Amino acid sequence: MFYEATAPANIALIKYMGKKDEHLNKADNASISYTLAHLKSRVRLEADPLLRQDVWSALVANALYPLPLSELGQARFLKHLIRMKERFAYTGFFRVQSANSFPHAAGLASSASSFAALTLAANEALSQLTGLPPLSNSELADLSRQASGSSCRSFYAPWALWDETGVHGYALPYTQLTHQVFLISSEEKAVSSSEAHRRVLTSPYYEGRGFRVAERLEHLLRALKQQQWATAYQLCFDEFQDMHQLFETAKDPFSYRVDATFKILDYLQAFWKQEGDGPLVTMDAGPNIHVLYRLDQNALQKRIQDKIEQEGWAYVA
Ligand code: DP6
Repeated sequence: MFYEATAPANIALIKYMGKKDEHLNKADNASISYTLAHLKSRVRLEADPLLRQDVWSALVANALYPLPLSELGQARFLKHLIRMKERFAYTGFFRVQSANSFPHAAGLASSASSFAALTLAANEALSQLTGLPPLSNSELADLSRQASGSSCRSFYAPWALWDETGVHGYALPYTQLTHQVFLISSEEKAVSSSEAHRRVLTSPYYEGRGFRVAERLEHLLRALKQQQWATAYQLCFDEFQDMHQLFETAKDPFSYRVDATFKILDYLQAFWKQEGDGPLVTMDAGPNIHVLYRLDQNALQKRIQDKIEQEGWAYVA
């Protein structure tokens, strides 16, 4: 008997960066994300009475891209399954398989969607196997957060706000946006986001981060509610620059931004300056650039795409 679930990725506009509690993944600041419904992870669980431990393998199926998960990645994944089993007091073992609806080379982090999908599949499997009631969406988001912070936002769509009270859906007038990634590198990052959360604490700019980010979040929510797209763009841009500055000024500094990153960012900024319009732009803990367009920006999106192709940069939609 198989238990399967899928969950989407999400892209934060105000970033979760820095933790109050590393074991429970309690964030130092509130974050907001847009859920990427087209970028999903799928997890399949099979209870096997012959197993003496949980085992992971890549899921091979049509229209799915098996993800290469390192030993460490597998251990982290299976550790979350143990957390879920403990919640249901279940002592059996599972074959765990997972894959993404997008290629690994797409330069997208899949930890949020993977852990959210595992949490959902485990809830399904464990409630059926134990006869206990399934957990609520908010309990699931809370458990998933303990595995990977950003995954808790994948339980709500299209917008998720994660603050000190928990994670919630958040109503905003932009309910459907088009997401693209300008792909600069799909290589494994030298510094993982979990490590980045640790190192930013040593930046001299971290002290003022809480204040800056709280104010920026408030302004961004207001701008999005009032459909002030240009203001939202500026706030999103400031936010990822703020985060990357923390990386680059940490005691043991590191940077994800390379020449091509700056070239594309310069181009997007010049586009905005000339047109007074453009996409929202953001970056995660990596070199790739994420853009979000409104649906009425089709013509403008086409022009930017053409330029990206002309310059020989790849984009993933
Ligand atoms: C830069 O959720 O990957 O993408 O909790 O250690 O698993 P862990 O970190 P993770 O951090 C994501 C950081 C970010 C910003 C964001 O998504 O908010």
